[in-house]
Amino acid sequence: MLRTILASIALIFLGSAIGANSVIGIKQMSLIEYDKQLCNAELIILKGDLIKLSKITTPDLYKKGLKSRMDSAFGTLNWICRGFIDNDPNLFSLFEKLEPLFIANKFKELHLKLDFLIKKYPLNLDQYLPEQASKEDIKVGIKIYQHYCHGCHLSHNDQLEMPALSLEVMAKSLAPEEFIARMIAGVKGNGVIALRNPLSRKDISSIYSYLLDKK
Ligand code: HEC
Repeated sequence: MLRTILASIALIFLGSAIGANSVIGIKQMSLIEYDKQLCNAELIILKGDLIKLSKITTPDLYKKGLKSRMDSAFGTLNWICRGFIDNDPNLFSLFEKLEPLFIANKFKELHLKLDFLIKKYPLNLDQYLPEQASKEDIKVGIKIYQHYCHGCHLSHNDQLEMPALSLEVMAKSLAPEEFIARMIAGVKGNGVIALRNPLSRKDISSIYSYLLDKK
């Protein structure tokens, strides 16, 4: 309860600090719906991270960070995907197999299973795509980006364990599905905003649009 109150205060504060219509993805959908989309996004990120982890060109330190990030993602995956798993008993055993494959370094098999799940439960990109954002939205997106993101996500240096990679480079180089998935599930809230991403769909489409056009 206290957490809910704190979260609401934080959301109001964040909304008014940015001074605009930017409030807040989770208010617009039910928690189960939010978790389902988080599940779709997490599967896509896991696949993307797995591909990076399998590349020889990925620096060792970054690989170490990717491994621990994936490890913790597998720790919560069945929980955030429960909206799918609970409705389909066959899926339960499939999800149960993912983490052991990761631990056993059976990356090819894991990749295939992730692919299967991503195709079965595609992320709905509709409201996140850059063309959804109006000029006014984009102004808000720029403010959010410059105020809350830019400072950490400026340089694209992957020689670190947990790099804050350039969002501009990510927007321009990743497939829309993967960039949006990372914008949905890769931006973590904190204790106050209940560990949820504070960005709304509109915020994401606006920031995406701005980054793609950025010179
Ligand atoms: C205090 C520094 C900081 C700020 C501010 C910050 N980030 Fe991050 N961000 C990070 C770090 C560090 C990581 C890498 C964490 C990890 O690998 O788990 C990260 C990860 C991410 C990822 C996932 C990247 C990936 O490789 O999957 C996305 C997307 C992202 N941030 C977007 C944003 C956006 C959008 C904002 C502004 C609303 C923002 N971040 C604000 C430091 C920051």
